[in-house]
Amino acid sequence: MNPSTSAWGGRFQEAPDALLKRFSESVSFDRRLYRQDILGSIAHATMLCEVGLLSIQEREEIVHGLREIEEEIARGTFPWSTDWEDLHMNIERALSARTPAGAKLHTGRSRNDQVVTGLRLWLREEIDADRKAIRAVQQVLIDWAERDSDVLIPGYTHLQRAQPVLLAHHLLAYVEMLSRDSERLTDARRRVDVLPLGSGALAGSTLPLHRQRVAELLHFSQVARNSMDAVSDRDFVVEYLAALALLGTHLSRLAEDLILWSTSEFGFVSLPEAFTTGSSLMPQKRNPDSLELVRGKAARLSGNLISLLVLLKGLPLSYNRDLQEDKEPLFDSADTILGCLQILAALIPGIVVHRDRCEQAASDPALLATDLVDWLVNHGIAFREAHHAVGRLVVRAEAQRVSLSELSSEEVAPLHPDLPGEWSRLWNPREAITRRQTEGSSRPSFVQAEIERWRRQWSGEPS
Ligand code: ARG
Repeated sequence: MNPSTSAWGGRFQEAPDALLKRFSESVSFDRRLYRQDILGSIAHATMLCEVGLLSIQEREEIVHGLREIEEEIARGTFPWSTDWEDLHMNIERALSARTPAGAKLHTGRSRNDQVVTGLRLWLREEIDADRKAIRAVQQVLIDWAERDSDVLIPGYTHLQRAQPVLLAHHLLAYVEMLSRDSERLTDARRRVDVLPLGSGALAGSTLPLHRQRVAELLHFSQVARNSMDAVSDRDFVVEYLAALALLGTHLSRLAEDLILWSTSEFGFVSLPEAFTTGSSLMPQKRNPDSLELVRGKAARLSGNLISLLVLLKGLPLSYNRDLQEDKEPLFDSADTILGCLQILAALIPGIVVHRDRCEQAASDPALLATDLVDWLVNHGIAFREAHHAVGRLVVRAEAQRVSLSELSSEEVAPLHPDLPGEWSRLWNPREAITRRQTEGSSRPSFVQAEIERWRRQWSGEPS
């Protein structure tokens, strides 16, 4: 063997078995990191030149060659080959075929620090894209909340009607969740933003590599402080996958609410036809498949997180080839989440709200039983006592098959002498929500202020 047939040719007399080649190659999926790999190599070569390990001429040939390779890859004409295990070796081989300086590019570098540098560069960009996509979903939710700002629906606990709320309040709950998801990504990004290069295979280098300079060239805010940690941990991938698993869970819940609301049983909304599908057998069907898939894909987001945790558990320091298995779950989650966010951002603006159905469902007087308790508390009755008395009234109404509001003055008078006089005023759900006093509640003025707060916050942010 010689250097032209393998990167580690010197040590070996036999070529790798064809089975091993097929089993261990990663170029079929890690080629996706080509831009970042080339970026990292150019920064590395620039630094090597600055510290005197490459001549200016050699650096130029390397940079030129890498740029050409980048273009070929982008055009789809680059001859990827599994003979060369991974993307790093494919690119290095192609560079070396162009210039003898290619043989110097890997000076002071290992694929162990190279691969994780590429991965960090890639993930930094991906997180920025995710945050934009999250914002787009938040925007359509806010637009919807504004469009239907006066619509009331029942709020649910245990999927049983509980108390009336504004539809907008329900939607803003998801805006909150998504905002925390976005913050989690921003937070994770700080720990992604660390340069591993210069760690070598695991123990650094005897060469005078200038790591700070490489960090500067690649806009990393920090240099990894321990070479063994740098090449062997993938906690930043775990954090990202955890943030996506949770984001996916939130999107799944949103999808589930929309699915429920669009059933004939609820009838609160109609979904845009272009995002629903028909049945091959039942002509009348219109199914919310897009939302079901958002719900379903949350499962693999969680699965990918678990894959990474299990992958890392039990690995001795430092680099182990197991770590190559970090990429497919990572790429899969990254693609899956963008797919979910994009479909929601496109679907939500087409939702039509059926106000009458919503209003009707929210007008069930039983939903204001708690308000009646509060009224009694305001009139001096102890909460537990009031709760019990209203409970008895509910039983009575049920026995008579009337709604709570239809009970007679004689029946309600024993609770408080002023109650019959105010009875009829208690049951208007629209008035009821304006009685909410606590911040964070569904009082229309609060909900409106929240909508405005989000808009203000976003308009003040750099995009
Ligand atoms: N393809 C490998 C990975 O993704 C690159 C590092 C290989 N390093 C090694 N020592 N075999 O992790």
